[in-house]
Amino acid sequence: MERTERKKPQSLADVIQTLHQLFAGDKVDVEEVQALLESYQSDPHEWLKYAKFDQYRYTRNLVDEGNGKFNLMILCWGEGHGSSIHDHADSHCFLKILQGQLKETIFNWPCDEKKELTKKNETILQENQCAYISDSIGVHRVENTSHTEVAVSLHLYIPPFDSCHCFDERSGHKKKVRLTFTSKYGEKMPLANSVSQENN
Ligand SMILES: [Fe+2]
Repeated sequence: MERTERKKPQSLADVIQTLHQLFAGDKVDVEEVQALLESYQSDPHEWLKYAKFDQYRYTRNLVDEGNGKFNLMILCWGEGHGSSIHDHADSHCFLKILQGQLKETIFNWPCDEKKELTKKNETILQENQCAYISDSIGVHRVENTSHTEVAVSLHLYIPPFDSCHCFDERSGHKKKVRLTFTSKYGEKMPLANSVSQENN
């Protein structure tokens, strides 16, 4: 398919504007989106207002709802914080590092509930790098393994979803979890809403 050459985004606002254009229809060109996100040079001044950290666990902070087509959010990982192993509710998931490093461990899709999950791939994602995952690739765990540095990542989900499944690594046992936001558009959510069971 013909693809229009896109200019490198100059700001996060530029990225968001382009995402709105890209997802005006229903098609998702994974490579194009990945290239767009990777070409954005992270500038903390542009995303600091969304970066709400928590002492005990990582946080999910909504940046843009993409007219119902996508969710763009910033996740803040304190030292040693990590996610459970989870799926992505049949959505496309892009993960770009804005600051620090994150370790992504991909497991094969758990086909038998009583079996230990099998590792497929392990990557240390570096600043500005953008990873992609969907249920057809597998499930993953994301961790900030550093004990001295925090990490911040930009996540794009198409279409948006508010629940997913978490998996126990050893038994393969699956559990449905609801996903919530710590903040929306830079404003903290009331505490009751922000207490998430698990997240992605
Ligand atoms: Fe994920």
